[in-house]
Amino acid sequence: MKDNLAYATTSASAVSSDADDAPDLPPKEFLRDLKRGLARPQKIISPKYFYDAQGSSLFDRICDLPEYYPTRTEMAILHKHAREIALHIGPHAEIIEFGSGSMDKVRVLLDALDRPRRYVPIDISESHLLDAAQRMRLAYPALEVEPLVADYTQVLVLPPDEPPQGRRMGFFPGSTLGNFEPQDALLFMQTCAKALAGGALILGVDLVKNPDLLHAAYNDAQGVTADFNRNVLVRANRELGASFQIDQFAHSAFYNAPYQRIEMHLVSTCQQTVSVGGATFRFSEGETLHTENSYKFTLDGLHQLALRAGFTPGQNWIDSDHTFCLLWLDAPPSRSHA
Ligand code: TRP
Repeated sequence: MKDNLAYATTSASAVSSDADDAPDLPPKEFLRDLKRGLARPQKIISPKYFYDAQGSSLFDRICDLPEYYPTRTEMAILHKHAREIALHIGPHAEIIEFGSGSMDKVRVLLDALDRPRRYVPIDISESHLLDAAQRMRLAYPALEVEPLVADYTQVLVLPPDEPPQGRRMGFFPGSTLGNFEPQDALLFMQTCAKALAGGALILGVDLVKNPDLLHAAYNDAQGVTADFNRNVLVRANRELGASFQIDQFAHSAFYNAPYQRIEMHLVSTCQQTVSVGGATFRFSEGETLHTENSYKFTLDGLHQLALRAGFTPGQNWIDSDHTFCLLWLDAPPSRSHA
């Protein structure tokens, strides 16, 4: 079933771009990436390791926080324009969602669409994905739901669509594109444009705005974002037998204006050593492990990125406070199949 339409990207980790060996089995890959990241002058870990079952449910809680405006704003934009977007998409569409999480957003689209045919949610967190897919089957009995457990930053293998019927639509909400480094965002978008050839992508991204609002969104009063950030250490202890002292790492998130990004770090609150898979790593007091970037976009920057990736930008939908943007991008039909 998954044998045609394979499109490989080079390694698109969000904090580093370190394209070399073929991917290993997940736990080996985690160990390898963590050891490599801890050996760097600026210690790093890819944010994709946030999303085990615990991380995915902490993330769902972030989306409901009063300070975290993006989810709410994107939902409101979707609700407001669902009919118009659904008309653009047309009947019998296939929706492919990259990083489907709890699948709340796609429901707004599905509810507005004319007889959507198939939904392909792609996510890295298997249990979360399969549970959510099962709920979708119950809620949409006429819809073919075909979940794909995958790291879509590494390989993008879409199930065949035969015979092709409605439009093949990609859906990439939540400003997840902003968690990629710029060159990896471009690579992913190029891959996406090829995989969706003849169809289109709806991309949701957070816009550049007042740094105070950004700062609050990633430093919530309840400390859920801090728990989410530290969960990567909890996971390393559990899955890899690492020896992180969780309470000796403080959450830090701030806006780096020249780079137009929120940076998340874990700050070592004392001098300490950590062992991971037989290796020892020293943290000095105040030293950080860089866990994630969340790039913010301007409309202009987005258009340039989309064009370079081979998309043709169409309409956009933005809230009245200019906080968040949904963008329609046409993926031109591939010439080789014409
Ligand atoms: N992509 C979204 C963002 O960057 C959601 C997200 C990813 C997030 N990782 C996060 C939100 C960590 C808060 C904390 O905003």
